[in-house]
Amino acid sequence: MGSYYIWTVGCQVNVADSGKLAAGLRRLGWEPTDQAEDADFIVLNTCAIRQQAEDKAANKLGAIRFLKEANPAIRVAVMGCTVGPRTEELSERFPFVDVFAQPQRFDKVLSVLDLPDEDSGGEFWPAVFPDEATPFAYVPVVEGCDKFCTYCIVPLRRGRERSRSIDEVRHEVEAHVARGTREVTLLGQTVEAYGKDQPPVEGGTDHADLFDLMSAIHEIEGLQRIRQLTSYPPDMTDRILEGMASLPKVCESFSLPVQAGDDETLERMKRGYTVAEFRERVAKIRSLMPEVGISTDVIVGSPGETDAQFRNTCRLLEELRFDKVHVAAYSERAGTFAARHQPDDVPQEEKMERLHTIEEIQKRIAFEINHELWGRRFEVLVEALKAGREPGVERLTGRTRTAKLVHFDAPQGVYRLGDAVEVEINRTYPWSLRGAIVAQPEPALTR
Ligand code: SAH
Ligand code: SF4
Ligand code: F3S
Repeated sequence: MGSYYIWTVGCQVNVADSGKLAAGLRRLGWEPTDQAEDADFIVLNTCAIRQQAEDKAANKLGAIRFLKEANPAIRVAVMGCTVGPRTEELSERFPFVDVFAQPQRFDKVLSVLDLPDEDSGGEFWPAVFPDEATPFAYVPVVEGCDKFCTYCIVPLRRGRERSRSIDEVRHEVEAHVARGTREVTLLGQTVEAYGKDQPPVEGGTDHADLFDLMSAIHEIEGLQRIRQLTSYPPDMTDRILEGMASLPKVCESFSLPVQAGDDETLERMKRGYTVAEFRERVAKIRSLMPEVGISTDVIVGSPGETDAQFRNTCRLLEELRFDKVHVAAYSERAGTFAARHQPDDVPQEEKMERLHTIEEIQKRIAFEINHELWGRRFEVLVEALKAGREPGVERLTGRTRTAKLVHFDAPQGVYRLGDAVEVEINRTYPWSLRGAIVAQPEPALTR
């Protein structure tokens, strides 16, 4: 056995996949290292959502090439969304890579290590869960995507929707909680699609849905918060939303990408909803959870987007007032419907101007929303600790249930990652809040 190094970019799904691969390697006796230079086995887990992401992997590979030239015994695997079904082009461009593996083809990644078959295929992978003790864990519940938005590479790389069983997910969440996890985020590209690919539950006509899954893990003692990512309006049924609102551990927080606030643009993107339908789902969420935090994603400069259509998107952002907006300039992805049929006709400078316009609008909105939180008290789950400016003081960072980032100071050594702390907000910014502790932690009986 030897040592491994895993480099990960992209979304939470990639983070979860890398965690699983690391757990599998450790089960086989391999040891992690902090830098590629010290590893016998280097794995790059890559993202292809935009050109920028692909370029990052190419740059990293440039550095790895020198390591491989210096020591040809090193094994190098590239996995994740830059790898499609055909790898000839990649092999030509990066001949020193030993294997290219599509997302989740862990067996293929391990094929370069000359392991016995039973250690990498069959029953091995389904039983491997990420095993690091972390207060926050990502748990994929539905893999792949069936939506085929015209601009998007994800379905071409991650395949059709496949839901895991409730039992398997519960088992994984229990394993996390037993190691100290307090908050889980259930992952899916369109997470409310959970269960749609499964047969009806015994004796009924409906499949189990995200609410059934959340209800099942809600019972796990020690688990404090449940989140979900990413939401997709047409899959968000009233049953799921009302069910979520009824479960106290489910946080009032949604990541609900709109992509555009203009019907013609949404139609070209084949998003599967209209602006009115999107607005109605937001209203439903807000009626059920008045304090909810909602973030969204927007693509500017998608093929054919006119200035007037872009203005409609700006207007929708002003109207719906999201807590956060992730804005991206359209990047053509080879193989997508858009790349074949919708010319990338918005000039780069125009894309950047639109991007900045949205950033400015959102900065003001986020500042206004956060300003209203001055003086309020929130439960914050600690996710980072670092030395403070004065001796004996630590700077803590965590999130509210609505996913607001809060910084506060605490006496050194009192709090640990994952602790719930009550904090009163005394300064507000567009992207974060600052506050002061108002309550000491309860005696921790369960530790
Ligand atoms: N499944 C989620 C998002 C997955 S991709 C959803 O349906 O919204 C994450 C984000 O990347 C998207 O929300 C989108 O805003 C952005 N994105 C995807 N493809 C892109 C492309 N070709 N160019 C620019 N941004 C893109
Ligand atoms: Fe891509 Fe659309 Fe699927 Fe999201 S829903 S992953 S944007 S195809
Ligand atoms: Fe995620 Fe990037 Fe793939 S965003 S699904 S790692 S293309």
